[in-house]
Amino acid sequence: MIHAETFPVPPSFAAQAAVDAPRLRQMTDAASQHPDQFWLDQAGRIDWAVRPTTASSSTFGGDVAIRWFADGTLNASANCLDRHLVTRGDQVALIWQGQDQGQVERLTYRALHQRVCRMANVLRGLGVGRGDRVAIHLPMVIEGVVAMLACARIGAVHVVLFGGFSAEGLADRLVNSGAVVVITADEGRRGAKRIPLKATMDDAVARDGVQVRHVLVLAVTGAAVPMHAGRDLPLNPLLAQAAEDCPAEIMGAEDPLFVLYTSGSTGKPKGMVHTTGGYMVWASYTHELVFDHRAGDVFWCTADISWITGHTYVVYGPLANGSTVVLFEGLPSHPAPGRWWEVIDTHKVTTFYTAPTAIRALMRDGDDVVDRYALDSLRLLGSVGEPISADAWLWFHEKVGRGRCPVVDTWWQTETGGILIAPVPGAVPQKPGAATLPLPGVACVLLTDKGAVIEGEGEGCLCVARSWPGQARTIWADHARFRQTYFTFSPGYYFSGDGARRDADGYYWITGRIDDVINVSGHRIGTAEIEDVVATDHRFVECAAVGIPHDLKGQGLVVFAVARDMAEPGLAEAAALAVTRGVGRYAVPERVYLVPDLPKTRSGKIVRRLLRKIACHELDGLGDLSTLADPTIVDRLIAEVARVA
Ligand code: PRX
Repeated sequence: MIHAETFPVPPSFAAQAAVDAPRLRQMTDAASQHPDQFWLDQAGRIDWAVRPTTASSSTFGGDVAIRWFADGTLNASANCLDRHLVTRGDQVALIWQGQDQGQVERLTYRALHQRVCRMANVLRGLGVGRGDRVAIHLPMVIEGVVAMLACARIGAVHVVLFGGFSAEGLADRLVNSGAVVVITADEGRRGAKRIPLKATMDDAVARDGVQVRHVLVLAVTGAAVPMHAGRDLPLNPLLAQAAEDCPAEIMGAEDPLFVLYTSGSTGKPKGMVHTTGGYMVWASYTHELVFDHRAGDVFWCTADISWITGHTYVVYGPLANGSTVVLFEGLPSHPAPGRWWEVIDTHKVTTFYTAPTAIRALMRDGDDVVDRYALDSLRLLGSVGEPISADAWLWFHEKVGRGRCPVVDTWWQTETGGILIAPVPGAVPQKPGAATLPLPGVACVLLTDKGAVIEGEGEGCLCVARSWPGQARTIWADHARFRQTYFTFSPGYYFSGDGARRDADGYYWITGRIDDVINVSGHRIGTAEIEDVVATDHRFVECAAVGIPHDLKGQGLVVFAVARDMAEPGLAEAAALAVTRGVGRYAVPERVYLVPDLPKTRSGKIVRRLLRKIACHELDGLGDLSTLADPTIVDRLIAEVARVA
């Protein structure tokens, strides 16, 4: 549903903004007319050991090679820490807020620098060096940020793993990345619940193919956890003994900074590789431009650090720009609704960046909750992760931003490293539900499903015609898959997997995934991953997973499974358990339907479109069923869905 109203940039906001409309036009022109110069100028926003003399030497053709600032050298952690020591060493870099109101820790840039150096020395002491992979599996505690920057400091490649992954999910990623050291915690906390991080990691590390030599265990809750002699080491005493100075390793611009796994439409999760120079420039550029960063800002991005949003907008972007970052280890409504608003008022947050799934949950708490808080420190709001509906956008704008704060709806992906489409808030009027315009230097295009370019207004597949500095370079250990996934839809274009509509003002409205990836509460889940793990239970012959609309989660997962013996009890539970075990609790299906067969074309392809409609009870317009190998299956599927409902 399109909301027609346009929200102009408030004049008071534009007057103070770093980038107003004329400046944005200038930047857009410069980026398109003199791209090399534009990007070399942007490279100047970060510190280099050796300044690069070339911008892009990238091609989307042939074997696909993406390279930026290739002759530059730098260190990412020095860019987030050392460069600030003289000018803002005593400024607060990180405000950690624990679940309870009294649990607060503030670290200045100087203190954060020391903490990072200590962690870096611990890693070095274990023989970790340039190019080694280190897995980080921590809750939202200061050490999570510290561990990432410590890896960057010594040239190790961090692989941050979500606390909600199952042991199998962790093991897959440990094996694929070849991680040699893991940094985990005894337990995580979620409200009153405890998350057994170390126990899950023990199970993962014991599996075939894992090359982990050491597991460093941070005491978070203080729970006693079994320690493997020789392999496991308590982290706290090591940090206490480590020296608080650690010279930063000078890295090439194209040396990997991190690998981060994300789901695609086929196969196992892919380790997206981001390198140092281009990523840091992109993190800094987009954080400043989209969040109108200025001195004194208190920036709160609610994303977990194990997602790309946490990498770019909790850690690298805001710290490179010398912001004050809020790191919150709690839940939006624990111990009571309004907890997030309390955090905003307590820490005088100026810029608040969250996801539509959270906004929908907060709306449910009722307006009287949000109305109880002042929220007068806020000046800018942001949304990311899934399409935001007009009603959620308007509520966010009106109730949280009190009609005063622009809302930036930011479109991007793990693969893009940082934001590609968003309204620059001092320059671009917003329309609820539209990500608006590509940032200067970002060449978005819409293509038909045959790969033809759509001009002007229209709807199609969202692609990008030219490389940008923050783009992922490859898939870890599988460049062929990288090329195949992103560059073969229409040769010469990066294929995002999302659909979008472009209106008469050139604004982009993201319509969601057009491939077999679903988005559950902002978590990307590949339907193929779900199907593979269900198939590991040999009681099932085959299955198909589809996404259906869900009020709170955006999308929910539904599984249709064909069992060998349909009369066997407990099959639906077994399929759900296979998902929890194989992927993680966050991917658990809303419903499992046990069906005699799946709808397939004569060539054997599962017709997911039909399953989606049946799961949504949209029985009108099921389309032409005559192409199915067995059209009679449709009625039996409908009957099963009706029976379970
Ligand atoms: O479908 C798009 C959706 O999230 C996908 C990327 O997921 P991930 O790599 O996990 O990164 C999430 C955070 C950047 C996209 O392909 N998406 C992200 N932002 C938006 C969005 N859909 C609509 N509007 C957005 N603003």
